[in-house]
Amino acid sequence: MVLASASFAADAGELAFNACTMCHSIDPKVNDLPGPNLAGVLCRKPGSLKDFEYSEGMIAFAKLHAVWTPALVDEYLADPGKMIADTPMELPRGSNTPEKRRALVAYLQQHGGDAAKACPN
Ligand code: HEC
Repeated sequence: MVLASASFAADAGELAFNACTMCHSIDPKVNDLPGPNLAGVLCRKPGSLKDFEYSEGMIAFAKLHAVWTPALVDEYLADPGKMIADTPMELPRGSNTPEKRRALVAYLQQHGGDAAKACPN
């Protein structure tokens, strides 16, 4: 039973991440999308990928926050433009309900490599 519910949660995360794949990949080798690569984004410094041009809002945000904690990612997804005024990230309608955000953060944690896995909640 525990196993069944764990794999259900993983599927929910993968499904929810379909709303992100037009702009993001979690495969570290994919870097030709309009959004920054999300492999290891949990516990990574915001706005810190060298080959990605972030918004000024994201750069200012990074001065205030050492790393993307799960809680910060959840808050960003809830309303990207509220947290970072000029962020170009726009989410498909309905892709960021509280349930989906929980599944997305779990997905980024489980599939984002060792540092993301070890990132405290
Ligand atoms: C329309 C394109 C688009 C979609 C769809 C999108 N994003 Fe983004 N995302 C971006 C862009 C562009 C940035 C960089 C924002 C900035 O510079 O302010 C970003 C930044 C991020 C960051 C911070 C990355 C970093 O390196 O600091 C996270 C986390 C994130 N997105 C998660 C998601 C998730 C999860 C989804 C799906 C629910 C999603 N995004 C959907 C375009 C998108």
